[in-house]
Amino acid sequence: EKGGYPHFMLKEIFEQPECLTNCMRGRVNVEATNVTLSAVIDYKKQLLSAKRIIIVGCGTSWHAGLIGKQIIESLCRIPVEVEYASEFRYRNPVVTDKDIVVAISQSGETADTLAAVRLAKQCGAFIYGICNVIGASIPRATDTGSYIHVGPEIGVASTKAFTGQVTVLTMLALALAKERGTVDDDTYFSIVRELSVIPQKMQETLELNDRIAMLSRIFTYARNFLYLGRGYNYPVALEGALKLKEISYIHAEGYPAAEMKHGPIALIDSDMPVVVIATRNSMYEKVLSNIQEIKARKGKVIALVTKGDDTISKMVDEVIELPDTQECLEPLVATIPLQLLAYHIAVCKGKNVDQPRNLAKSVTVE
Ligand code: M6R
Repeated sequence: EKGGYPHFMLKEIFEQPECLTNCMRGRVNVEATNVTLSAVIDYKKQLLSAKRIIIVGCGTSWHAGLIGKQIIESLCRIPVEVEYASEFRYRNPVVTDKDIVVAISQSGETADTLAAVRLAKQCGAFIYGICNVIGASIPRATDTGSYIHVGPEIGVASTKAFTGQVTVLTMLALALAKERGTVDDDTYFSIVRELSVIPQKMQETLELNDRIAMLSRIFTYARNFLYLGRGYNYPVALEGALKLKEISYIHAEGYPAAEMKHGPIALIDSDMPVVVIATRNSMYEKVLSNIQEIKARKGKVIALVTKGDDTISKMVDEVIELPDTQECLEPLVATIPLQLLAYHIAVCKGKNVDQPRNLAKSVTVE
């Protein structure tokens, strides 16, 4: 059942290229020139008349929502808010029939997310679900939605569901942007084309597994970790930190890199590993100066860079090279090494990777 892998988590990490191919099947056309989602076709009127989108979810699904917000706002020019379902449901939020609420949940059974959906529905919002488990409570409570189609996820730490959620959010942003007329053809075609080759780029990234397994041994005894990223990669930093916490029980925090100087920099010394997503994109120079600040305080930097980068490589302790891609799709490749890092550190520590202490796969109680 684990297909030859020692743990479900590793199997699910390695399945991601295939999962995303399944997720895009029939949605991204074979010529890679168009994206269609049946929900967007069937509910075009409701989706186009919305004035705002509110994304709700918990844990990893909430992280996917943060990436979705950036892609949707940038391509569709519609305001997007992202809320923890548990906060949203008790806050007496302002929600009207002009809103779309997007509920993200792998299991489709998370109690807080389901309650948020019900509340939003009472307020008259149109509800769009992004779920994995077919026919679960959340997809049944929504008006429409798109399944991520990544197959059963057994490991408690969510991996392939996250990349599936980000892929569906990207397709939703593209499909809506086309209908709204808010994206130019060049941008649209280049993102669709690049999205269609993401499974190959993920495959390339998985080849880093041995290198990451070795690197993990160096950091197994760290007590704390910081994860930094900006823009689309800020939620990737949050997700990397959550994975490490969940399965290795090492304290880890994710931050937008520029926030470091507003507090967390005080934590940096020679015992502090800092994982920095420093790919060559619009934020490159800024992140580079963050790295200099960490090195000046003797922090240990593990940098995720774009293949061929020799500037950052010279400044840091460990380098992980990623294939180049469109900035908005970087989370799909950058997440993989962070999943592997958390996995190997937990294995080195002898922890129960698939069933970490105190955690359940779906949180059906408050
Ligand atoms: O099934 P859901 O996506 O609604 O679950 C939400 C969270 O409970 C879940 O993502 C949790 O944070 C994972 N254990 C993260 O790895």
